[in-house]
Amino acid sequence: MTSASLFVDVPQAQPVAVFKLTADFREDPGPRKVNLGVGAYRTEECQPWVLPVVRKVEQKVAADSSLNHEYLPILGLPEFRASASRLALGEDSPAIKENRVGSVQCLGGTGALRIGADFLRLWYNGTNNTATPIYISSPSWGRSHNKKSTGPCCREVILYASCGALSSWKGPHLHGALALNCASSSSCFLLYAQSCHILQRKQLFPFFDSAYQGFASGDLDRDAWAVRYFVSQGFELFCAQSFSKNFGLYNERVGNLSVVARDADNLARTLSQMEKIVRVTWSNPPSQGARIVAVTLNTPEFFAEWKGNVKTMADRILLMRSQLRAKLEALGTPGTWNHITEQIGMFSFTGLNPKQVEFLIKEKHIYLMASGRINMCGLTTKNMDYVAQSIHKAVTRVQ
Ligand SMILES: Cc1ncc(COP(=O)(O)O)c(C=O)c1O
Repeated sequence: MTSASLFVDVPQAQPVAVFKLTADFREDPGPRKVNLGVGAYRTEECQPWVLPVVRKVEQKVAADSSLNHEYLPILGLPEFRASASRLALGEDSPAIKENRVGSVQCLGGTGALRIGADFLRLWYNGTNNTATPIYISSPSWGRSHNKKSTGPCCREVILYASCGALSSWKGPHLHGALALNCASSSSCFLLYAQSCHILQRKQLFPFFDSAYQGFASGDLDRDAWAVRYFVSQGFELFCAQSFSKNFGLYNERVGNLSVVARDADNLARTLSQMEKIVRVTWSNPPSQGARIVAVTLNTPEFFAEWKGNVKTMADRILLMRSQLRAKLEALGTPGTWNHITEQIGMFSFTGLNPKQVEFLIKEKHIYLMASGRINMCGLTTKNMDYVAQSIHKAVTRVQ
């Protein structure tokens, strides 16, 4: 049979920028090439890092003959869900004690954002609601936040200028207040973990995206303050947690959607609907990554070791931040560079424009996102001078 393909009208989609960048980097034969685009932690030797505690826990799980490969419950591994929510909300969280916190084990932070958004579309502010806007900061997590987190669920995705124009952005502003004030009641706000009283006054729904707990300061509790503060102020909220970065479990797809509800009854009905959504999405989640996280969080020695591992990663990033800023300032690179040490987490927006980025890629074999975003752990003490000098050239030669 030789009739036309059913797919003849399917348009070619653009490649996903961050994956394309890594593919281009791999193909580049240049001896001095540097990948600042990768979305994962790298050691001083530019290598992926399996956390030592994860190695140990993996062996413990492998040796446990009581475990099997039966399906997990639709909502996931109970001990993982409970310990993940405790990590976000705090060991002594009154909301947990009041039995009004529950969660859904999800496929990474992406899955948690998606299940939360699907639920909101079906049940928030009227049933099957596609009219409620969801506000997402700009810049955001790549350009994928809106698509990943809302999918087909929300008609209107409004990027609130949390940080000014993308091209000139170098760090957080006093921000978002305008968007918050302009938002119609009941809108949803996707927050990183930072604007409380306006949300309260306008009855806006906060949806936190917590993908880097521990990476900002090296301290898990400090990094979770914003979510905990909102809970203490009486908000009902969602918090999408990713364990990809802080456990280095990128390909295991470990995430959790914590739900803080007004009371146990509201929680139970909400989780019952989330269960329906999961059933038709991935049916039930994978177990390996969730077991590793649960055993780690629930075993005091492993938990202590994990905190040390997270601190190792956070400290290396902080060191790279201070070294890059110091080198650029010592070179007299035009502009200010304090944003490099003031931003937190694994990534930095450098403020470099697309032409400067192109110069770095083509002339210097230094790969970074067109937005100027760099992964701080693509930097090492060995490539630091080369990268700083190259940024200096890009800024002084290319406008
Ligand atoms: C801000 C932010 N949110 C969510 C995610 C998604 O994490 P995961 O890989 O666990 O789906 C990422 C991943 O890079 C991220 O940077």
